[in-house]
Amino acid sequence: MNKIVDLLNGSMNGKIAEIRGWIYRIRSSGALCFIVLRDSSGIIQAVGSRNTLGEEKMKDLVSLTIESSISITGTVRQDPRAITGYELDISDFRIYQRNENFPITKDKGEEFLLDMRHLWLRSREMTSIMKIRSTAFKAFSDFFYSNGYYQTQGPMMVSTATEGGSTLFKLQFFGEEVSLAQSSQFYLEVMMFSLEKVFTIAPSFRAEKSRTRRHLTEYWHAEGEAAWYSNEDMMKDEEKMIEYIVSEVLKSNREDLELLKRDISKLETVKAPFPRIRYSDLIKMSNEWGMSLKYGDDLGADEEREITVHFDKPVFVTHYPEALKTFYHRPDPESPGEILCHDLLAPEGFGEIIGGGERIWDLNELLEKIKKYDLNPDDYYWYVDLRRYGSIPHSGFGLGMDRLVWWICGLESIREAIPFPRTIRRIKP
Ligand code: 4AD
Repeated sequence: MNKIVDLLNGSMNGKIAEIRGWIYRIRSSGALCFIVLRDSSGIIQAVGSRNTLGEEKMKDLVSLTIESSISITGTVRQDPRAITGYELDISDFRIYQRNENFPITKDKGEEFLLDMRHLWLRSREMTSIMKIRSTAFKAFSDFFYSNGYYQTQGPMMVSTATEGGSTLFKLQFFGEEVSLAQSSQFYLEVMMFSLEKVFTIAPSFRAEKSRTRRHLTEYWHAEGEAAWYSNEDMMKDEEKMIEYIVSEVLKSNREDLELLKRDISKLETVKAPFPRIRYSDLIKMSNEWGMSLKYGDDLGADEEREITVHFDKPVFVTHYPEALKTFYHRPDPESPGEILCHDLLAPEGFGEIIGGGERIWDLNELLEKIKKYDLNPDDYYWYVDLRRYGSIPHSGFGLGMDRLVWWICGLESIREAIPFPRTIRRIKP
């Protein structure tokens, strides 16, 4: 059995091949039947003729419909007019399933396609996005493995909020109200005391009420935590990681990016180091660009879109005002009211893909912050204990993998970047 891609490089020209897959397009004209077959590796046109196949088999072939499953044996022939440069002259075939009419046709709207996600994922665009996503997940893990990090896992059912109560998904846990994890950060901090440098890729859950093109209620969160690291140390690993992931996608998925009509030149400039801009300076810059942001304003999806069109590579924004971020961020001793943190904003209007920074590691400072944020210290006893026994400076980050894929692929909405999107209005299929 051959994969379609292997028929397209010239080495099989004139030889007999057997491929199997699904019918992507089919039409017949007189004594010929043209089938575009797809498998996970690509597409090729196969041509059946009445002369070769005979009346009965030809009837079988012509009556097939889109997405029917079939294997085909035939001779590979180079033909510059063919959709992928080669054709297969069919000598025999076997039908696995003859379909009813496939429900997805050309003019369908977005909601219909989301309802039909289980079938729409077979489209060429979605296949390319999913291949790029696969490369990105592998490259993320490879990067951290080869930089001395260990992979670990935290629980998804938790009793402690990390990112504030407003986006918590509550659930019943044998009579107790608990929630789904918003982040694995606190558990990575625990693991850091034995493994020093750790990462995880896990779902995170946010009951986001917003309906922006960049929010999911369940998303894939790639997080890292490193002992002895400053905010700057962490940013250095992150920018190299982003550069590495993008270069791996450029290496493995060029055709997929082309199929998605992504402007590849925009990805080729993604090379570390990335600029670092303090939040206060960014506010001033935004005013020069005609925006009316004031110091202390949060940057939402709209603001980040307006800001990042001015950049051609990702940019770190550091030193946010304390009030804009959650309690665990370490205040900057040299810049009162600001914290040692960073967001990484993707260029071209995409905006935040990473949030991270230094963690408070002094026991009393953390206890005060917990009080100031009106949190119950009992809920955080284990997190506080980390500052009681052998505390050390450390930093970490969280990268939204779906946002990363959304940006790399240059998609309209984050929903296209994940196989089964969960949003405020979608829980199926
Ligand atoms: O900035 P966030 O909320 O930071 C944290 O959760 C930290 N505990 C991470 C850490 O330091 N370990 O989220 C981190 C990233 C964001 O930059 C964004 O890319 C992604 O997670 N993210 C979302 N992605 C899709 N849908 C949502 N609703 C998201 N919320 C955050």
